[in-house]
Order: sequence, then structure tokens, then C-alpha cells
Amino acid sequence: MTYQTIIVETAEGGVGVIRMNRPKALNALNGQITDEIFTAMEAFDADENIGCIVLTGSDRVFAAGADIKQMADSSATDMMLGDDFTDWSRMSRINKPIIAAVSGYALGGGCEIAMMCDMIVASETAQFGQPEINLGILPGAGGTQRLTRAVGKAIAMEMCLADRRLNAEEAARYGLVNHVFPVERYMDETLALARKVAGMSQVAARLTKEAINQSFELSLNDGLNYEKKNFYLLFGTEDRQEGMNAFIEKRKPTWKNR
Ligand code: CAA
Repeated sequence: MTYQTIIVETAEGGVGVIRMNRPKALNALNGQITDEIFTAMEAFDADENIGCIVLTGSDRVFAAGADIKQMADSSATDMMLGDDFTDWSRMSRINKPIIAAVSGYALGGGCEIAMMCDMIVASETAQFGQPEINLGILPGAGGTQRLTRAVGKAIAMEMCLADRRLNAEEAARYGLVNHVFPVERYMDETLALARKVAGMSQVAARLTKEAINQSFELSLNDGLNYEKKNFYLLFGTEDRQEGMNAFIEKRKPTWKNR
């Protein structure tokens, strides 16, 4: 598949890298770039050689939000019939772990697509914000929901109502971001984390990601039951047998992802 707005590469150790690449528009997320991102993610998800996916932009900008120019003349009916943000839920059906490597602006839809990833590694220049209120709108791709779950009500309210931006250190302190590194290192560090994740059993990683995500949907009791069933399910896999044998035999496991 040839892409026009993203660059897709594979990195050492079973890592698939998707780089948003609309530099003149600061990676504004129009229908083309989101379709290409989700298509590339689906391809990596189906590729047995890939164990972890990295979504990134440039050092200057991760993504400056949904494409304001594309939306500027839309009516409510246009938005409803086009229903672009439902298409974004394609990302929540990706089974493999996804890490966002964020440097520079992650605003509006840029912050939202980062939050749809499973972990975020930031450079020291990263800036997270939901500035939609300046445009007379509100976040439409998870900003009021995922952000609130990540940083709590008070900070989410301030970000969405007063355009408060979080720098990388604040984002880490509030639990939005896993790690912060100097801009020269954040990508290498993200790739190292991605390699570590990709080196695990893919079936165990898949059921682990699924169980953690269910914690946002289910009561504690239902979530614990869900976790327990996934745990028991893994006892039917070759990787579970291999992982335990390798521990007992004091060697590294060789995963079959089966
Ligand atoms: N949509 C479309 N184009 C955008 C864009 C966006 N979200 N963000 C930046 N651009 C374009 C600018 O229009 C400009 O294009 P031209 O050169 O053709 O004029 C180019 O990118 C460079 O931008 P600036 O000149 O503004 O660059 P800057 O360095 O001065 O400022 C910025 C950078 C602070 C990120 C500023 O561009 C900005 O505030 N962008 C908009 C951020 C925003 O409001 N995001 C929310 C969008 S709505 C949304 O995301 C809804 C949702 O929930 C999904």
C-alpha cells in the first residue's frame, strides 16, 4: 500500500512505526491521514512479525488536531453524516500494543489520538492540550472522556474549558505520559520500550491489553472475572507452557505466539 500522509517503516525487534507526515499542516488530522494511520495499524496488527506499533510525528509536532480547514464549512448534518470520529474507533480494535512517541504539539485530536494509544513516551518539548473551546466546539474524539480518566476531573476541566496546556513533566505527573526524555532521545527510548513489548508472547500481550482496557468499561467484579477468564485461557497456549518451562529450566523463552 502506498501512503501519502504517513511514512510506514519496520524497526528492529518486531516494531512497526507509523510517522504522521503532513508537515505544512502540522499533521492536522484530515480524513486521509486518519484513514491511512488506521489502515497501516490494521496491517501491522495482522502481521505476525510485528509485536508492537509506534505512532509518532516529527520533533516539532505530533499532531495539531483535527483539520480545522476541512471542518470549517461543515454543518451539523455534514458532520453527522460524515461521522469521521466513529472511524477513529478502528484504532480501538487494534489488538497489538500501541505506543505514541510525542514531541511538540499534541493538541485537540492530536492529544486524543495519543490517548488512544496504550502508552505515551514524550520528549521534553511535548505539549498536550484540548484547545477546541477556542473554536467554539468541544473535543470530539475522546478528549472529555479519556483525558478525564487519565488526569482526573479538575485538570481535564481546566484543559477543556480554559485551554490549559500540559508540558511533558506535568503530563507525566498527572499520569498521561509514561516517560519524558530529551528530544534527541525520546524516539530511541520509545523504540527500546516497543522492542521490549514486542519481545513478549503476542497472545499474552493481546489478552493483557484487552483486560486492562476492559477496566474502563466494566464494574470491578465484572473486570476481575474478565481478567480471570483471560488468565485461564492462556493456559491453553503453547507460549504459557514455554514461558513456565523456560523459567524452571533457567533459560529465555522462545515464543510461538500460539
Ligand atoms: N487544522 C488545519 N490546519 C492547521 C491546524 C489544524 N488543526 N493546525 C495548524 N494548521 C496549519 C496552519 O493553518 C498553518 O497553515 P498555513 O501555513 O497554510 O497558514 C500551518 O499549519 C502552520 O500553523 P501555524 O502558522 O499556526 O504555526 P504556529 O507554530 O504559529 O502555531 C499551533 C502552532 C499552536 C499548533 C497552531 O497552529 C494552532 O493553534 N493550531 C490549531 C490547534 C487546534 O485548535 N487544534 C484543535 C483542532 S479541533 C479538534 O481537534 C477537534 C477534535 O476533538 C478532534
